[in-house]
Amino acid sequence: MPSARISIRRGTKRDLNKIISIEEKCFDKDRFRPTHMRYLLWRPDSVVFVAEISGAPVGFIIASCRKSAKCARIHTIDVLPEFRRKGIGNSLLAEVERIAIERGVEKITLEVRADNFGAKKLYRNAGYEIDCMVFGYYQDGMDAIRMEKKLAAQK
Ligand SMILES: CC(C)(COP(=O)(O)OP(=O)(O)OC[C@H]1O[C@@H](n2cnc3c(N)ncnc32)[C@H](O)[C@@H]1OP(=O)(O)O)[C@@H](O)C(=O)NCCC(=O)NCCS
Repeated sequence: MPSARISIRRGTKRDLNKIISIEEKCFDKDRFRPTHMRYLLWRPDSVVFVAEISGAPVGFIIASCRKSAKCARIHTIDVLPEFRRKGIGNSLLAEVERIAIERGVEKITLEVRADNFGAKKLYRNAGYEIDCMVFGYYQDGMDAIRMEKKLAAQK
């Protein structure tokens, strides 16, 4: 599939149902509840991007970016299974980082399941470093790895 058909746009509250549907296809456990997704999208500091192929949503990222704290947080990133390993996850991450840098953010943080090999590799390859372990962070008792990336301030 040619990468030219992949486009990334800002997400809005109107994407809520599409985002919930993708989340349901990406996680069978520890998925965000629809009410939590709604809360994340409605936050005034939320930064959302949606990846589309031929106009159909295939992935998204939700972050929050608090200018006052100079810190951003990635809440979740999902790409539908059939569209993975095409660089979409990387592109979504890069878009959030671009906005964070524009807003003067110095650091992005996230949590990832200790057993989520693919996501850990995505983040490591994108320059995220392990900060600490958060034991028993997930509903099923799985530990989280907290990761962070320091951003170069925009001149
Ligand atoms: C994690 C996820 C978002 C990655 O999306 P993606 O579009 O496949 O990521 P990319 O194609 O941009 O991958 C970039 C790099 O990350 C690494 N990577 C991503 N997924 C990987 C996997 N399953 N196994 C090994 N490496 C992986 C690779 O180094 C990859 O580069 P390569 O394909 O050239 O080897 C996707 O697998 C997903 O939605 N998973 C389910 C939801 C999830 O776990 N989200 C993370 C919550 S913290």
